[in-house]
Amino acid sequence: MHVRRFLTVMAVTTATAATFSAPTTAAQAGKSLTSVIPAPAEAWPDARQAFRLNWGTVIFTEAGSREAMAVGRQLADVLRPSTGYPLPVLPALARGHGISLLLGGADARVGQEGYQLAVERDQIVIRANTPAGLYAGTQTLRQLLPAQVESKTRHQGPWVVPGGRIVDYPRFAHRGAMLDVARHFFGVDEVKRYIDQIAQYKINRLHLHLSDDQGWRIEIPGWPRLTSHGGSTEVGGGPGGFYTRSQYLELVAYAKARYITVIPEIDMPGHTNAALASYAELNCNGIAPPLYTGTSVGFSSLCIDKEITYKFVEDVIRELAALTPGEYIHIGGDETHATKPADYVKFMQRVTPIVAKYGKKAAGWHEIAKTQSDPSVLPQYWGTDDVDEEVVAATQRGSKVLLSPAHKSYLDMKYDRSTPLGLTWAGLIEVDTAYGWNPGSFIRNVPESSVLGVEAPLWSETLENSDHIEFMAFPRLPAIAELGWSPWSTHDWASFSRRLALQGDRWVHQGVNFYRSPTIAWTS
Ligand code: ACM
Repeated sequence: MHVRRFLTVMAVTTATAATFSAPTTAAQAGKSLTSVIPAPAEAWPDARQAFRLNWGTVIFTEAGSREAMAVGRQLADVLRPSTGYPLPVLPALARGHGISLLLGGADARVGQEGYQLAVERDQIVIRANTPAGLYAGTQTLRQLLPAQVESKTRHQGPWVVPGGRIVDYPRFAHRGAMLDVARHFFGVDEVKRYIDQIAQYKINRLHLHLSDDQGWRIEIPGWPRLTSHGGSTEVGGGPGGFYTRSQYLELVAYAKARYITVIPEIDMPGHTNAALASYAELNCNGIAPPLYTGTSVGFSSLCIDKEITYKFVEDVIRELAALTPGEYIHIGGDETHATKPADYVKFMQRVTPIVAKYGKKAAGWHEIAKTQSDPSVLPQYWGTDDVDEEVVAATQRGSKVLLSPAHKSYLDMKYDRSTPLGLTWAGLIEVDTAYGWNPGSFIRNVPESSVLGVEAPLWSETLENSDHIEFMAFPRLPAIAELGWSPWSTHDWASFSRRLALQGDRWVHQGVNFYRSPTIAWTS
């Protein structure tokens, strides 16, 4: 029922947009309650209602909740520079012309991360069961305002929010983005910038690929050469870098304030040249190889039969667990071409219990599935087709699976042959390809109930700075985010591509270096 209404609204919306000519007017006129990404689960637009932000607008937040107030302040921080309005954030004791962020009283379906949003002439009310839900609601509200609201400089307005009601909640629990900070290192500010960008699309996990052949990026007590030597370079021979413990905790806290959990990955037993170069004793032959700045894979392995390997791994996992508020530690496990298959199994069977010993669950690239009977271990599928017997067997034992099919969700693949950045080994991925798959039925014989969610990895062999990150992530990251959040009943390329065009207006004002895919009718 709600689906039909949703699609009708989108059709009406387009017809209206077509009657305006100035791009900004058209963009705003084309905006309805459903013009957001990810598409809301249910929406009831009401053309008779619309809220207009003004000088007197107050952001009221649930009295007694510091977290609700922090969400209100973050909303105000976005809206103040562009509107120039004071937008005080006050406890919701008083009522007045305003935006209220309230805990409790929401539709039962909103769960732990959803929200309901009501836009009326004199007030906007967001209700949720949790501050995370309020945060999600404020991200929707941002997108309902004109694109100029994202600007750091003052704009004219009017600041109108289309009227109606939304009840919204995620399809999948895990909606992730992965950033490879190993092949090229990205500093704290660059990662924070990406966190701000992905949070707008209700991404709730940031997986950091913290080690690889080319670099080790996180301090580990007792193993200082991992960072002083192993972190000292990157692909191409640049200076590399690493996060101190306090910098890493700063990233974890920054993400948490945006309701994103950081999942650290130390890739092992392969992809370990940076560690092997730092400590000779981790090598079977006792000789440290040189640092590596190329882009080959599959040539390094920890020494499976040395006890020091497991002391090292335990020291690493203990530290990662201490730095991680979430339930998962990612232990990699991909492309172990330099490890004998039997050794790989031996290694993983010894290491996954270490993760459990420190109170965490292990995630790994899907090769890990063949080593496990432990259903708490989470395989992350990165294959390029829809068949994987070992993953199917793991889900039949009770494992969940995380979906990152490389030919759909790898943000480092080129869009087309002329894309100046990125790789092609998994194919060319235009926006419609990134959007065009169903995580709930993607791997043959893996039911939706076994899918924990989706994740969009961004590998950085060819990426050196935020401009590069943004060019590859936008507009494809929002496509993967919508697959993770929105019910399949809303899945519709025509609708998505119109809503994506409106995001382009926002990226212009945010200074995001997005790829202007020729498949999208950008409006600015
Ligand atoms: C991977 O792309 N090697 C996980």
